[in-house]
Amino acid sequence: MARTEETNMDLKGQIDREKLPRHIAMIMDGNGRWAKQHNKPRVFGHRNGVKAVREVTEAAAEIGIDYLTLYAFSTENWSRPKLEVDALMRLLVETLNKEVATLNKNKIRLDAIGNLDLLPPSTHKALLQGMESTRENDRMTLILALNYSGKWDLVQAARQLAKKAVEGTLDPDSISEDDLARTLSTTNIPDPELLIRTSGERRLSNYLLWQLAYAELYFTPVFWPDYRKNHLYEAIIDFQRRERRFGRISEQLA
Ligand code: FPP
Repeated sequence: MARTEETNMDLKGQIDREKLPRHIAMIMDGNGRWAKQHNKPRVFGHRNGVKAVREVTEAAAEIGIDYLTLYAFSTENWSRPKLEVDALMRLLVETLNKEVATLNKNKIRLDAIGNLDLLPPSTHKALLQGMESTRENDRMTLILALNYSGKWDLVQAARQLAKKAVEGTLDPDSISEDDLARTLSTTNIPDPELLIRTSGERRLSNYLLWQLAYAELYFTPVFWPDYRKNHLYEAIIDFQRRERRFGRISEQLA
């Protein structure tokens, strides 16, 4: 057996299947720096990041994770050089078209959150086709955060609630946390219990701001294109060693 395969099996075996996070959110960071290390253009890093996407998706589904959300493009990413933005959008189309069959084979449903209407038409179309073609799958949901930001999500929810209040169908004083949560783009998706960010950065970068309120945060120095199954296993094992108190004290948890 190859060395990595052996390590993978060891780590995988240490995971307690009864204490899995239902939802893992990931910030895939470090593609640009990885490319620089290899003396290649940034786009080379993104291209190699697709392999990591495949690995974590497969690993998460195999272990039994219900939801995996990947930060693929933030609302702030539009300010990157046009060449890079265009290449990322093309890569998304290419990857979606290529991987839908694998998603179906593995019974994985594709979903997306973000201001999708503002994506380039070809990316939007590939995304909707991917979602449509995988919608009956029930093993795991892979959610791509595209043209997404946590602040955008809160603003679009505020607008929806305000409209209802103006129409007279919602009493502003009755608005609850549940009402707001249901109006976010993640409606019906449980909050992530674990957030993983690669590349050594320790920030939320306007990701799922409301939804990550109680998430465990896990940071790894590994650049995204180098991220493999064993890195995900390590993060889950670390998560399972932590005590999640939700504002209570240890003795109340027993
Ligand atoms: C962050 O690295 C990465 C991104 C903004 C894009 C992630 C996209 C992919 C991995 C490609 C395809 C994805 C899917 C879901 C098919 P960075 O460019 O910020 O790296 P740096 O911080 O080192 O510059």
